[in-house]
Amino acid sequence: MKPNWQGPVLTRRQQLAGIAGGLAMGALPRMAWAAEDGASLRDLAAAKGIVFGTAINAGRGSPINDPGYGAIVARECGVLVPENEMKVYVLGDDPARLNFGPADRIAGFARDNAMKLRGHTLLWNYGKYISPALADMVTKTGAEKWLRSYITAVTGHFGDRIYSWDVVNETIDPKTGQVRGTVFDQALGFDVFKIAYETAREHAPHAQRVYNDYMSWEVGNETHRAGVLRLLERFRKENVPVDALGIQSHLGNDGSHSGVQHAAWKRFLDDVTAMGYRLLITEFDINDREMPRDIAQRDAQVAAVAKSYLDMMLSYPQLDQLLCWGLWDKHSWLNGFAPRADGLPQRPLPYDEALRPKPMRAAIADALRAAPVRKGIA
Ligand code: G3I
Repeated sequence: MKPNWQGPVLTRRQQLAGIAGGLAMGALPRMAWAAEDGASLRDLAAAKGIVFGTAINAGRGSPINDPGYGAIVARECGVLVPENEMKVYVLGDDPARLNFGPADRIAGFARDNAMKLRGHTLLWNYGKYISPALADMVTKTGAEKWLRSYITAVTGHFGDRIYSWDVVNETIDPKTGQVRGTVFDQALGFDVFKIAYETAREHAPHAQRVYNDYMSWEVGNETHRAGVLRLLERFRKENVPVDALGIQSHLGNDGSHSGVQHAAWKRFLDDVTAMGYRLLITEFDINDREMPRDIAQRDAQVAAVAKSYLDMMLSYPQLDQLLCWGLWDKHSWLNGFAPRADGLPQRPLPYDEALRPKPMRAAIADALRAAPVRKGIA
């Protein structure tokens, strides 16, 4: 499979604005934008031992190309993660010839603005995201050989720039609670996880190794949570070197925020942390599909969900990273993947279409202010 990335597309206006704003240098003035309450989310988080940040991309809607968004990201974030640019469908499936260009642009932007960098993801073990060409390549090369050389090449390229890797992503089928059954785990069984995490440890020994998934606190996630718990237990039993559970936190992703199972969710988090795993929120956003059309009401509901979720999550001292899946409503994946029935754009993130801070931003700030101090990764 050839990498399908086409690179950032800048309009003439963006190009001029970028040049005028010094974008060619990558570093953005952190004073360029003032938060409504003075303190950045980065600083509020750091005061509690938490690192705050976001996913960004290198193309359309990237802070690298948009000076307005760039100033906000530079001010608010202590960590970035590429939304798609470290996935195999962008890097390519030939470990000897990987396309690191887009991911390197994000790494450069993070470096220029003194931010940490997370990696997402070395093995997205989900059939939907394994193209026939990749499956073919893996079968031809041999699953173990391909996986080892791919992970070696990717972790080796970024070296110690990346302090935390989503080594394996979404391997549990939410409907069955079982490992999904891809070209990798059909060939290798449970060893696929040993190979992935051990190779990551060998070639990026400094980096935190995360298992990342989207089990959530709403009703309907019971089987998914139980499956993830069984997987984490088996990791421990078989000494697979996994440090933390990445809780994606795409809230209300089935369209509903009703039926939150506080007690069951707390039991899940207690069970995970009792096994010694650390926690991180890796992809926070709030699907507003079932919320009112009225923007003030909708924003207030989104903020209320955010506050109640973060208050609970941040009460765990094991949780020391909070990343949103974008900061800007305009470019949220939800507009494409989960459009509202009334055709209005989703408002799932802390900044609105015009890059004004929303009540959700205030909710995140409040939750950070209320969080206990922890000895975190920050
Ligand atoms: O790169 C092509 C581009 O060349 C083409 O013009 C364009 C036309 O639609 O498509 C572009 O690729 C899209 C890519 O996003 C970049 O925009 C893919 O079709 C689209 O499938 C891809 O979606 C991403 C999705 O993961 C699948 O990789 C979303 O942006 C991204 O937000 C989403 O992120 C996932 C996490 O990785 C894992 N957890 C769930 C989360 C949300 O689904």
